[in-house]
Amino acid sequence: MEINQQVKLFDKQAKKYSKRKKKNASELRMRQKLLHSAQGEILELSVGAGANFQFYPKDAKVTAVDFSASMIEQAKDTAREQNLDVHFIVGNVEEVELQEKKFDTVISTLSMCSYPNPEKVLQLMASWCKEDGQILLLEHGISTNSVYSWVQNKADSFIEKRIGCHINRDILKMMKESPLQIERIESLMLNSIHLIWAKPNKG
Ligand SMILES: C[S@@+](CC[C@H](N)C(=O)[O-])C[C@H]1O[C@@H](n2cnc3c(N)ncnc32)[C@H](O)[C@@H]1O
Repeated sequence: MEINQQVKLFDKQAKKYSKRKKKNASELRMRQKLLHSAQGEILELSVGAGANFQFYPKDAKVTAVDFSASMIEQAKDTAREQNLDVHFIVGNVEEVELQEKKFDTVISTLSMCSYPNPEKVLQLMASWCKEDGQILLLEHGISTNSVYSWVQNKADSFIEKRIGCHINRDILKMMKESPLQIERIESLMLNSIHLIWAKPNKG
């Protein structure tokens, strides 16, 4: 799908993302568990409506990127509600310029499903993270359950056209092949959702 088309799809979903950011209890528990160590200068990729902001320390300095201006508008409201210091950038994560800046914590939640080149984004995440920093991901992808993965493969192209996300990406394979050093992974829901704690570079 063309990037412009994808941006339009996400623009249309911005209000829905904002409404649901405090509603799904199991999603909130996953975000809280993953993000409780987030600190310092935080880079959040594909921020959406700012669903993660409630879990950041109040003194965090956040840089947040998203290519949907409508999502960024919702995220600005969330930052105001949370009294959080956030610098927003409207742009494509695969092309954004961050002027050689390095962050203490680099975060991506529920966004590896939508990049045309997710492997490139993992490399960029490593390059934007300080050597002793941390990379936190909450991502969904293909299940190890044969029935569920069959359904995911069948539905993938329909879902992508409707909401701009792939549901059958192999997240763990991508992680293994990336430059990131995986510290810990927790997989849930028939191994289709992964909480991942990583360092920027393999040993
Ligand atoms: C499924 S939503 C997840 C939002 C948020 N990370 C969360 O956890 O609620 C995916 C988000 O990624 C953004 N996005 C997708 N591809 C992008 C890209 N290439 N560059 C910047 N933002 C992108 C969309 O606009 C949308 O806000």
